Amino acid sequence: MTSKKIVLTGDRPTGKLHIGHYVGSLKNRVLMQNAGDYEMFVMIADQQALTDHAREPEKIRQSVTEVTLDYLAAGLNPEKTTIFIQSQIPELAELTMYYMNLVSVARLHRNPTVKTEIDQKGFGEGVPAGFFVYPVSQASDITAFKADLVPVGADQKPMIEQTREIVRSFNNAYNTDVLVEPDGIYPENEKSGRLPGLDGNAKMSKSLNNGIYLADDFDTVRQKVMSMYTDPDHIRIEDAGKIEGNMVFHYLDVFGTEKHAEEIQAMKEHYQRGGLGDVKTKRYLLEVLEEELRPIREKRLELAKDLGEVERILKAGSQKAQQVAAQTLSDVKRAMGLDYFG
Ligand code: TRP
Repeated sequence: MTSKKIVLTGDRPTGKLHIGHYVGSLKNRVLMQNAGDYEMFVMIADQQALTDHAREPEKIRQSVTEVTLDYLAAGLNPEKTTIFIQSQIPELAELTMYYMNLVSVARLHRNPTVKTEIDQKGFGEGVPAGFFVYPVSQASDITAFKADLVPVGADQKPMIEQTREIVRSFNNAYNTDVLVEPDGIYPENEKSGRLPGLDGNAKMSKSLNNGIYLADDFDTVRQKVMSMYTDPDHIRIEDAGKIEGNMVFHYLDVFGTEKHAEEIQAMKEHYQRGGLGDVKTKRYLLEVLEEELRPIREKRLELAKDLGEVERILKAGSQKAQQVAAQTLSDVKRAMGLDYFG
């Protein structure tokens, strides 16, 4: 008998998902799901979102629904993938209590992603304690499901590293092997791994208002594509244009499929030679994007008509996830001798 590898991953629900999320991770999750070789868990990390949005619970709650719609529209199938909400699994918080004793404050201070985020968010001296320890809580998310594989963005590498350390410390401290050391899986393709914003900013994000969302309607997508950053020195059509740093060509490289390859190559050469206008390249990108986005958008509109069904999916997923996490917590407590009453 071959047992399937367990995969766990998730997102913070702080808004709808954009096409950067889609090409950077969601698309790959759907492929992994459909390959059928994995037992998949996808978690909506509302508790982690609250570590820096404590006073905006309504926004987080709404985003849970939006993100679920994005997941389902993109092809995650609740029959194959367990989709669940972090806060509905209290076992995760309990695991965090035990793991925190195995991690030093100094070690948390050294987590480079947390460090960067603290700077970016401008917390100064006011870092919420919950935010500071979220890498430990993330270790709980991963180990509760005994995940072997965790597909995430490159910025999450320090979290996987800390999780592995916690697993080793725990198994060593309590002389057990209940916890499983996970491996991260990172995007191979640098271009799609982190999709830049429409304006050429290194990051597509809501706060920069430079993204295309899976929920955007056609007119919105068209307007956004038409406003994309290209080559600022490409002023007249006959001017020679630059490909590097030109978002239209960057996106064409990411979203173009085999059948577009020849056309994209020809356009690149034409653009660099001069004589090809931005409007034409943008229209072509819009066409390429629409092939991928239209079915997702249509499915999303359909799903949004029945939010009761979305709720049922999340409830069933959370119930299933809770059973798995409860088993791990019970093993953990037994390993620690906390099974007082048998
Ligand atoms: N930190 C992840 C992010 O910001 C979200 C997340 C929470 C996660 N728990 C997880 C990812 C467990 C993978 C595994 O995107």
